[in-house]
Amino acid sequence: LDDHHINQQTDADALARAAEQWFIDTVRAGSDRIAVCLTGGSTPERLYRLLQAVDLPWERIHVFLSDERFVPPDDPRNNMSMARRALLDHVAIPTNNVHAISTETSSPEESARLYEAELKAFYGADRLDPERPLFDLVLNGMGDDGHTASLFPGSPALVEAERWAVAADAGMEPHVPRVTLTFPVLESCRASGFLVSGASKAVALDRVRKGEHVPAARLKPVGRLTWFIDRAAAGEQR
Ligand code: 6PG
Repeated sequence: LDDHHINQQTDADALARAAEQWFIDTVRAGSDRIAVCLTGGSTPERLYRLLQAVDLPWERIHVFLSDERFVPPDDPRNNMSMARRALLDHVAIPTNNVHAISTETSSPEESARLYEAELKAFYGADRLDPERPLFDLVLNGMGDDGHTASLFPGSPALVEAERWAVAADAGMEPHVPRVTLTFPVLESCRASGFLVSGASKAVALDRVRKGEHVPAARLKPVGRLTWFIDRAAAGEQR
């Protein structure tokens, strides 16, 4: 991880503001159909709430998710439920532009298959072409153990090269089955951003910076990568 990939801010508020500007600039630079991949977890909520008030071309924006917890859609732990409450319920996005990972199927495996098919239909091909990234923007989070999406340390999903979405076990709370996009898909984007806040992330972030093997460090997007971090995550304050 080179320093030019890092956008460091003082605290969680400033971090959300910096990511907001990045989000706005990236989306406004998009074409007639803009695909963004959001993430769950608690850190992006602040960004999502800021984006409620921004004038964005929502009728042209399609929203996907990098991973989902296999709980009912109205469960507060459901990632899309959080994204709806914090952002999507407050903007004029057409219903059909919101691409949730269904958790009302027989299994996470089935949900992963359905989401993979939905992504391929949206993309219009079964193979990802580096010249034509799937997403305009992918927002990533990182757990205390260095996981991103639901790609946890030691998981077979980390090396999945064919499937676009797979079922995965949770390595951290909440311990519910997951559905996650795989690295080749998360990497197929014009802009990729990590949003990392708080002292609990300092150890994992240090490992990423040293080039050690944590899942988040494996992400090699086709487009530009930015790590939005705050001072606490950088280990500069407690
Ligand atoms: C999930 C997330 C996960 C998350 C990180 C960071 O479903 O849990 O997608 O990958 O981004 O765990 O989460 P926090 O922002 O809550 O620290």
